[in-house]
Amino acid sequence: MRSDFYKYQTQTTPHPLAMEVSHAKGSYIFDTNNKAYLDFVAGVSATPLGHNHPKIINAIKAQLDKYLHVMVYGEYIQKPAVELAKLLAKNLPHPLESTYLVNSGTEAIEGALKLVKRATGRSEIISAKDAYHGNTMGSMSVMGYEERKQAFRPLLPDIRFINFNNEEDLTKITSKTAGVILETIQGGAGFIEPKNGYLEKVRKRCNEVGALLILDEIQPGIGRTGKLFGFENYNCIPDILVMGKGLGGGMPIGAFTASSKLMNLLQDNPKLGHITTFGGHPVIAASALATLREITESDLMAQTLEKEQLFRKLLVHPLIEDVRGKGLMLAIITPSAHITNSVILQCQDEGLILFWLLFEPRAIRITPPLTISNDEITKGCSIIIDILNKIQ
Ligand SMILES: Cc1ncc(COP(=O)(O)O)c(C=O)c1O
Repeated sequence: MRSDFYKYQTQTTPHPLAMEVSHAKGSYIFDTNNKAYLDFVAGVSATPLGHNHPKIINAIKAQLDKYLHVMVYGEYIQKPAVELAKLLAKNLPHPLESTYLVNSGTEAIEGALKLVKRATGRSEIISAKDAYHGNTMGSMSVMGYEERKQAFRPLLPDIRFINFNNEEDLTKITSKTAGVILETIQGGAGFIEPKNGYLEKVRKRCNEVGALLILDEIQPGIGRTGKLFGFENYNCIPDILVMGKGLGGGMPIGAFTASSKLMNLLQDNPKLGHITTFGGHPVIAASALATLREITESDLMAQTLEKEQLFRKLLVHPLIEDVRGKGLMLAIITPSAHITNSVILQCQDEGLILFWLLFEPRAIRITPPLTISNDEITKGCSIIIDILNKIQ
């Protein structure tokens, strides 16, 4: 299997972690030697209820017995997709009520970028330095990290960048701006939270000049920051909310939500303003619905903040310079990329899964399932501290 993996499956890095997976349950992934790995990454924030949660598996199985794909997105009335969109609306503030379900985070970003242009008749998009919004051409155009996109130019025109958390830069948002796109908490940059009412100020500036605000909640969303969506922590409601990752409960999904007035623009002039074959797929929507129900009906979101405090209490060491982020979206910052690499690789040997962030080489990602127990947190943190002691 290992040699076939390297030979036949296209690689994204020269040195993948290459764990050979056998099965997964709860907070653990098991390799083919039946070694258990405690998962502090959750498939990069994509399995909020851990692995093989019974409610998700049952919902998928029940839908499998009914039907799979029957029609392109939006034509037929399919219960899982309708109920999912309705439950999202029920849990979102006015005017976020109409949801377009797509196949991935990056596709949802593409849809949101198209919508702000269509709605305003303007072309300029403003994004933030060090932002990550996905890897298709539009999403990559608003990625604030030149080194990773230079080889793929030309990308979209009329993209400008501001510094996240910099109020002076807000004057760059003008009446030429169709939309401003920001991650609520910057992920790839190192789990950077908005400070001093920054998002409120962005919201105000967008209102002043008639620009639409897109918040990318693909990573912070679905309960990870103690609220269903990160923006609820920062008193700023976007015009377009973009979701993905955890919404699917381990299945591939993306979605963007806005007012019906905005979303209805995708129906005509031109008609079929965004179309997709598999968006709203019944099995995936069933998985997402079970996930969203569990997160909104349990006390998992409240526990997230208590679990953050436990992590912060345990992650104290001379080689830990900072623990950034909020809730169960945390990043340990070590003094160097070298130390970070050693910790991630050595922890994997010791049965603890950690991972990197895209643009901050000193960061160690900690984004476990929201269902992780206090004992599991304690166990994983003691592995990290032991490894740091050895490195020191
Ligand atoms: C903030 C953010 N936006 C967009 C994306 C892209 O989502 P996907 O990989 O599902 O296309 C990601 C994925 O890491 C993300 O973290």
